[in-house]
Amino acid sequence: MQKNISLLGSTGSIGRNVLKVVRQYPGRFRIVGLAAGRNIALLRDQIEAFSPLAVSVATEELAAELARMLPGGWSEKIFFGRAGNELVATIAQADTVVSAIVGAAGLTPTLAAIQAGKHIALANKETLVMAGDLVMAEARRHKVNILPVDSEHNAIFQALTAGRREDVHKLILTASGGPFRDKNERDLWDVTPEEALNHPNWSMGHKISIDSATLMNKGLEVIEARWLFDIEVEHIEVLVHPQSIVHSLVEYIDGSVIAQLGVPDMRIPITYALSWPERLKTGLPRLNLPRCMDLSFLPPDFRKFPALKLAYHACKQGGTMPAVLNAANEVAVASFLAKKIRFPEISLVVAETLNRLARKDIKDIETILEADLAARMQAESIIEALWIKFKQRTGQQYDTPDLPPGLHVKL
Ligand SMILES: NC(=O)c1ccc[n+]([C@@H]2O[C@H](COP(=O)([O-])OP(=O)(O)OC[C@H]3O[C@@H](n4cnc5c(N)ncnc54)[C@H](OP(=O)(O)O)[C@@H]3O)[C@@H](O)[C@H]2O)c1
Repeated sequence: MQKNISLLGSTGSIGRNVLKVVRQYPGRFRIVGLAAGRNIALLRDQIEAFSPLAVSVATEELAAELARMLPGGWSEKIFFGRAGNELVATIAQADTVVSAIVGAAGLTPTLAAIQAGKHIALANKETLVMAGDLVMAEARRHKVNILPVDSEHNAIFQALTAGRREDVHKLILTASGGPFRDKNERDLWDVTPEEALNHPNWSMGHKISIDSATLMNKGLEVIEARWLFDIEVEHIEVLVHPQSIVHSLVEYIDGSVIAQLGVPDMRIPITYALSWPERLKTGLPRLNLPRCMDLSFLPPDFRKFPALKLAYHACKQGGTMPAVLNAANEVAVASFLAKKIRFPEISLVVAETLNRLARKDIKDIETILEADLAARMQAESIIEALWIKFKQRTGQQYDTPDLPPGLHVKL
């Protein structure tokens, strides 16, 4: 049966890969909606190639510019902003929504799609980081599937078919360790955004590439897994696996460990998330196992990469704290890319934002959006006040009294 897909984040790394899969199986998948941010030149090409019924872009100005680039009649099918994303996510003709916008902007359209009864192929991990409890409850209420696109969660989703949920002992998420795995702590102060963007195994968008370098990406994935698989965070472990061949593992109570392996190409988890429960040929190179004999697994270095510890901590605190972590991280990553702060300061800004904001119970989506906004303002003010630079000059110990031991980073 043909799947009608609304693709949110069509111009991004995941979005472009989704369109490659759709192109490969034209009778099987049809694009009915596209949402993007600012890259209207690429969006125009995608519109011409896939003839969606509605599209959305970041702003009204971009919507007008896009309309001028397309034949007459298109202007009434172009929407913008949060409302535009939500409209594309809930368009009547779509049965499946691929959620691949980057960052917090992905939350409300994904939630709207769930409430409109659409099945979700989820790449936007921020949706579950910010609002996992609420989003999963809505998915159950509306009887929709949330199928993971993230390769680690896709791997766990597959490994979970090997046993009963009550027999799972723990989930093991693998992390490549990013480009700075072997750097010493001191040298991390000198790394540039260009170096941080140069991921050894995956080609991804800027934000997730920086998150991979700080290991915040793995922290966000821990929180994503906590909600997606309904498992306490104490039963989620992270191991650094530099080869990115074993995408994640499930350990059962009898000691059996089930893993999913594959070449590191996002088209494999994307195809599975779209074709599940069937499997489709991807045409990608097959895993050459004799060449993969050197597979290693190491515990993460929490001292060098405190972001991962911060994510565990925020997850345990619960309530609005994961949303605070996520928002502070988005601001800090953008500031690092703009060369306003240095690489280790990303985690310091996040830690300080978590310290400054109180946890709140989540009543509704508004509570989460308010926490997101408050965290952004707080993180901005931390960066702007150059608080961190002051501490660095004075050589003071970074003061994180509410955080678990091991997070005192000497500046
Ligand atoms: N890349 C991967 O391999 C990978 C793997 C697993 C999970 N993920 C997750 O998938 C998501 C996307 O990652 P990515 O690497 O594809 O990011 P990306 O390459 O930076 O693409 C982000 C996409 O989101 C769009 N966008 C940004 N802000 C928007 C807004 N306000 N409204 C509508 N669209 C907006 C961008 O549009 P413009 O470019 O047009 O501005 C672009 O299409 C992230 O949550 C990431 O964590 C990615």
